[in-house]
Amino acid sequence: DVVGRPIMHLAAMKQATGEAVYCDDLPLYENELYLSLITSSKAHANITSIDSSAVQSFPGVVSCVFAADVPGSNITGVIESDETVLADRQVTCVGHIIGAVVADTQLHAQRAAKAVKIQYEELEPIVTIQEAIAAKSFYQPTRTIQKGDLEAGFKQADHILEGEIHIGGQEHFYLETNVTLAVPRGEDGEMELFVSTQSATKTQTLVAKALGVPANRVVVRVKRMGGGFGGKESRTTVLSSVVAVAANKLKRPVRCMLDRDEDMLITGGRHPFYGKYKVGFLNSGKVVALDVSYYSNVGNSMDLSLSIMDRALFHMENSYSVVNIRGQGFLCRTNLPSNTAFRGFGGPQGMMVAESWMTDVALTLGKPAEEVRRLNLYEEGESTPYNQIVDNVTLDRCWDECLSRSGYHRRRAAVELYNRQNRWTKRGLAIIPTKFGISFTAVFLNQAGALIHIYTDGSVLLTHGGTEMGQGLHTKMVQVASRVLGIPFSKIHISETSTNTVPNTSPTAASASSDLNGAAVKNACEVLLKRLKPYKTKNPKGSWEEWVKAAYLDRVNLSANGFYRTPDLGYDFKSNSGRAFHYFTYGVACSEVEIDCLTGAHKNLSSTIVMDVGHSLNPAIDIGQVEGAFMQGLGLFTLEELHYSPRGVLLTRGPGSYKIPAFGDIPTEMTVSLLRDAPNHKAIFASKAVGEPPLFLASSVFYAIKDAIMAARAESGMSGPFRLDSPASAERIRNTCSDHFTKL
Ligand code: MTE
Ligand code: MOS
Repeated sequence: DVVGRPIMHLAAMKQATGEAVYCDDLPLYENELYLSLITSSKAHANITSIDSSAVQSFPGVVSCVFAADVPGSNITGVIESDETVLADRQVTCVGHIIGAVVADTQLHAQRAAKAVKIQYEELEPIVTIQEAIAAKSFYQPTRTIQKGDLEAGFKQADHILEGEIHIGGQEHFYLETNVTLAVPRGEDGEMELFVSTQSATKTQTLVAKALGVPANRVVVRVKRMGGGFGGKESRTTVLSSVVAVAANKLKRPVRCMLDRDEDMLITGGRHPFYGKYKVGFLNSGKVVALDVSYYSNVGNSMDLSLSIMDRALFHMENSYSVVNIRGQGFLCRTNLPSNTAFRGFGGPQGMMVAESWMTDVALTLGKPAEEVRRLNLYEEGESTPYNQIVDNVTLDRCWDECLSRSGYHRRRAAVELYNRQNRWTKRGLAIIPTKFGISFTAVFLNQAGALIHIYTDGSVLLTHGGTEMGQGLHTKMVQVASRVLGIPFSKIHISETSTNTVPNTSPTAASASSDLNGAAVKNACEVLLKRLKPYKTKNPKGSWEEWVKAAYLDRVNLSANGFYRTPDLGYDFKSNSGRAFHYFTYGVACSEVEIDCLTGAHKNLSSTIVMDVGHSLNPAIDIGQVEGAFMQGLGLFTLEELHYSPRGVLLTRGPGSYKIPAFGDIPTEMTVSLLRDAPNHKAIFASKAVGEPPLFLASSVFYAIKDAIMAARAESGMSGPFRLDSPASAERIRNTCSDHFTKL
């Protein structure tokens, strides 16, 4: 039985040697063309003229495409139809796609695209959240989740404090940038697309809409992605639609893979958030009232932003029970490229604000933050602000195990000693819990399908609704099929995800893909097993191949599909009732850092992570997911910073100016443990979702930095709460330490 064993990712060797085939590795079609985008250089403007006359004289150029070339609808968007495939009158962000040049080669297309002259009548852009608030530039609706009695809560409180935090955005920086190859099939409006996307179905739907054909003419195929991280959940459809329009116009295959600077400029990232809070608490540290407002920088279209705000609000209390609470979410309409899904999907931003007020509470009382956090942790049977009972809570177990594995108390003593002995460098320590709700909050997405063929030689071709982006989903699905069918996993193959095998799939997202597709795969396997049963019974000593052969000769259908829908979901904002999540994934991390108060530099000394992933389907893959998510979160909270000019031009367009974590940023000591004996009976083979939940634990590094800064400030008698925005960059560390240097 391969379930629960640390099987190596099935494509690991191929990926390590470079043999793995990514979208742009597909060989060229004989008559293939390359496309280069023409994008807006203004954040907000009316287009007064487009002059592409110079382009035709460039070598290799075949054609241009503009809005008039869209044969179907130029209106697009994954939830709201509030975008254009190709802008015609107005542009609302720098990087807004206006048109494209198609040529024989990449070089020729890119050179010619630069020669297209666009004239603009500039309008005032809104770039930041603060500007949007000042201009009251919001999308509708505004979200509120409210429970208990706020007024009574604040009355009961011994202390009330207010605070705020800004959390910067994040670029996905998948190694493989966005890419689409569109191949017209030459009849009946058929088109086949090879795309690096988490959402084959969304791509199919929106391409069909742009082409003005029914969805049954469009096939989308996804072999694998070189990373998605949410960045390929919806924004990929923008490029795919343009490439498809060009392929349709020219009746030839067209390919485009964005350069890194284009990808960073055009495709959006994690939403920057601003959180403003008022918190009431007792002398003990128990929080009794919270009023919090979230503002997200949505950009120039809605995209998935409402669901992302929903998830922020569903995580506003992180792992803490707060009985009197109100959270409000405001979606800021700005002239940035539309921000989108990114690992955690608003959850990390929601929880980051929670840990900011929790830190303030501890600082106000002069109590150890560890003690105050522990005091407020959820207990079994308590209920969330959205009235969901938390059950099978393992937070306390994760907490205690993390305390002991990290040697928290010994470390705390050592940190205090170090800080007494060192003036210009300080150490800090923090332990942070997380609780992540598993399910798409848009209920209808919680479904999945699978299709399994058994061939007469006994080999099995498995297809399911999920895509592989490095997270090991295909490996886990082969493990599931192997257990249910009772055959070695070497007999089972997954080739790709495609819209003509499993239709109407949800995006591979929300960390739920192994839960959803795993259950669908199991369902399909069970159907097949039942059909094979008579042949097993007749020949109990026979082999799998013999049963399959016998069934085939007896004219039995050896192909089956499977389906799954998550039961009992259906949260309703109006009545604040109904289940939002199927269950929660829990974890706790403890980190220690050292900061240099004069330069603001910091070192990550140690991180100890304890995660409850149920009975892991594959501990090798799950530990990899925990490590990857943690490091991606570490980038978010301590390193990565997007810079825009006041006119909304992104200045950070590559690894030179935008720093993602490197080897040297991995904590010197880093350990990951999966909580033992914690079966989750809500998901496939007692496992839990793992992809996003650990990301937030990297905030332990941020709050360890804040703890170290606090030690520096304490030396000049500054002991109260102070604001630290994310990321905790060298500038911010330096400046918050030096509040007191300048005052001295
Ligand atoms: N791991 C790798 N290697 N590459 C990725 O792009 N995406 C993350 C996570 N882990 C990602 C990853 C995100 S954002 C999600 S939602 C989940 O994987 C999606 O896959 P799952 O549902 O199979 O966990
Ligand atoms: Mo992940 S942000 O749900 O693709």
